[in-house]
Amino acid sequence: RGDKMMAGRFVGSTDPIMEMLSASITVDQRLSEVDIQGSMAYAKALEKAGILSKTELEKILSGLEKISEEWSKGVFGVIPTDEDIHTANERRLKELIGDVAGKLHTGRSRNDQVVTDLKLFMKNSLSIISTHLLQLIKTLVERAAIEIDVILPGYTHLQKAQPIRWSQFLLSHAVALTRDSERLGEIKKRINVLPLGSGALAGNPLEIDRELLRSGKCLPGPEGQGMELLSVATLLMIHLSKMAEDLIIYSTSEFGFLTLSDTYCSGSSLMPQKKNPDSLELIRSKAGRVFGRLAAILMVLKGLPSTYNKDLQEDKEAVFDVVDTLNAVLQVATGVISTLQINKESMEKALSPEILSSDLALYLVHKGMPFRQAHIAAGKAVHLAETKGITINNLSLEDLKSISPLFGSDVAQVFSVVSSVEQYTAAGGTAKSSVSAQIEQLRELLKRL
Ligand code: ARG
Repeated sequence: RGDKMMAGRFVGSTDPIMEMLSASITVDQRLSEVDIQGSMAYAKALEKAGILSKTELEKILSGLEKISEEWSKGVFGVIPTDEDIHTANERRLKELIGDVAGKLHTGRSRNDQVVTDLKLFMKNSLSIISTHLLQLIKTLVERAAIEIDVILPGYTHLQKAQPIRWSQFLLSHAVALTRDSERLGEIKKRINVLPLGSGALAGNPLEIDRELLRSGKCLPGPEGQGMELLSVATLLMIHLSKMAEDLIIYSTSEFGFLTLSDTYCSGSSLMPQKKNPDSLELIRSKAGRVFGRLAAILMVLKGLPSTYNKDLQEDKEAVFDVVDTLNAVLQVATGVISTLQINKESMEKALSPEILSSDLALYLVHKGMPFRQAHIAAGKAVHLAETKGITINNLSLEDLKSISPLFGSDVAQVFSVVSSVEQYTAAGGTAKSSVSAQIEQLRELLKRL
């Protein structure tokens, strides 16, 4: 019972296995620093409320300072009776400054303390994650700017669909990530609401100055930001897993569109020729891990009654794991994107003429044919070429005229991938002007994120 801190109403000792199950110190010692920051702010508010004298405040602050140093030097000695980071820090404070340490927890509960700690931790983590995420988006956008002239087949259902600019592909992922970045920013606003000073549930009976607590860097409120962080992290990871999967496919020798840097690959223990895209596979799998953490927390929270229940202790491990995973994954993703090499020849080779079939239909549309009819006519051309064992660009004008009299000699211009992509000038399209505009928009947005 926290160094018998709360032993008053108990007789005898706790079951040792129960103690093990209950202790969270191995996990929540990661909150040591923010726990001290919160306590410092709270001590100042206690002094203002007349509970601590100036001298007592100074004693407490210097004791907390010392404990912070011990944690940062790695010399803080956790003892078996330390249940969690809050009781450990308070136990140590008492060893250092004596009974006056017992005044620090006046009007405070570990309930408002732990939420405050976790919020401070998440606030710090969010700014690190956001920085890594912005770096990844920037890398995608700048790569898109450099390689804007590269064209490859775009796929739907993993079947060749239409030619697109490589840059448009990169930007599609960048755009999804900017939304995740905005979502992370949203959480920050809600994290900035202060739980300290709300006690166990009823509030604080000492006319504590909650504005002072805020200026002391603390921030509350209702639970939920942990869950929110894990939700946004899950969306982000789903996006990264999709990007990872695209790149894994493009890096196979069957596609050969890109070569990953050795830095982000590993070999096979049996087959000497293998170069496996482990980095991308890990990004893909970590999406499952992060979603698993969210699912676990949602299961814990479902049907929980209001206010603190010990069940809530589970959230720390999930948040720490997800923060660590995101930090690593985002940096590796940036590394992979900035070091991979594209193989333009393989991309060009894959641009087989049938991916211009929708352009053939469009040609007829420009001649006045309704799109539905044009689709059927172009489909017939594809079929005719198939039966003749040739590609659609090798059909003679006669062949095409047998399908529709609207085909003329100018149909030859349809069979150019550059002209094809240049048609898509509307916002978001794959024409150079549109892709350039998207790059500019993203550069502007990045300044604001
Ligand atoms: N170790 C606890 C946790 O992480 C701290 C809060 C304990 N509060 C309580 N009323 N038992 O959830």
